Amino acid sequence: MILYFSGTGNSRYVAKKLAERTEDTLVSINERLRRRDAGHIDSERPLVFVCPIHDGRIPDIVTKHILRTPFRGNHDAYFIVTCAENPADAQSYVLKLYKKKGFRFRGFASVRMPQNDIIGKEATSRAEIGKLLEEADGKIAALAEAVLRDEILRYETPSGKAGSLFSPLRMALRGGAKGFYATEKCGGCRECVKRCPMKNISFKDGPVWGDECVRCMACIDGCPKSAIEYGKKTQGKDRYYLEC
Ligand SMILES: Cc1cc2nc3c(=O)[nH]c(=O)nc-3n(C[C@H](O)[C@H](O)[C@H](O)COP(=O)(O)O)c2cc1C
Ligand code: SF4
Ligand code: SF4
Repeated sequence: MILYFSGTGNSRYVAKKLAERTEDTLVSINERLRRRDAGHIDSERPLVFVCPIHDGRIPDIVTKHILRTPFRGNHDAYFIVTCAENPADAQSYVLKLYKKKGFRFRGFASVRMPQNDIIGKEATSRAEIGKLLEEADGKIAALAEAVLRDEILRYETPSGKAGSLFSPLRMALRGGAKGFYATEKCGGCRECVKRCPMKNISFKDGPVWGDECVRCMACIDGCPKSAIEYGKKTQGKDRYYLEC
């Protein structure tokens, strides 16, 4: 079973391709979160979790959802993360989670994908996106083969600059959803409301953000009019969203 959480489509893209190649069931953690569904999950085949790296680790909301969910059946589990730079020390957090859930470790791997964090960084340039996706496709195919052969994934030591060594501080500085607002470009389509995995956006005369933001970037990157900004940090920046 392939279970994914995704803000802007990268992890959904990887999860869908893995599900196609392994002919396995695809489960959206986004949808489970939207339904407030932490009901049990039953899988005869190994569990394959797919999610993005946020500040050098897997998003807290994914950890919490896995902890809350009872798993029945196969407890072999793979963890595949998508990241724009590298997974930093995320594997160590994943291992703690495995211990708490009684999962059997079958491997941790990362797939480099375009940058979606347009608050802290710049989105990957349009020219680079195609090449990154092509490279990702090759890696996804190899990962699917390994899962099908029941192989343990080889651990990869992260290279390059760590995502963040001061994750809690960076998270605190990000300041939740307080900085989001819609500009006069908003056409009222409510895509932001539909895309938010936390159901954190309601709509009155325009989108209104609540306090449950997990900074997934689905609203700001997914707005078809680029009408959402975060303070002054996102003004003039490209958006990144992978429809799939
Ligand atoms: C809040 C936030 C923090 C991020 N932190 C990191 C990081 O520490 N290291 C990294 O390589 N990428 C980081 N990224 C980039 C994402 O991991 C990457 O773009 C990912 O593929 C997005 O997946 P998604 O589209 O499924 O949400 C971050 C993105 C966001 C929104
Ligand atoms: S997605 Fe953008 S255009 Fe649509 S309602 Fe939200 S802010 Fe407005
Ligand atoms: S408010 Fe926006 S950034 Fe926050 S969880 Fe919802 S979609 Fe993601």
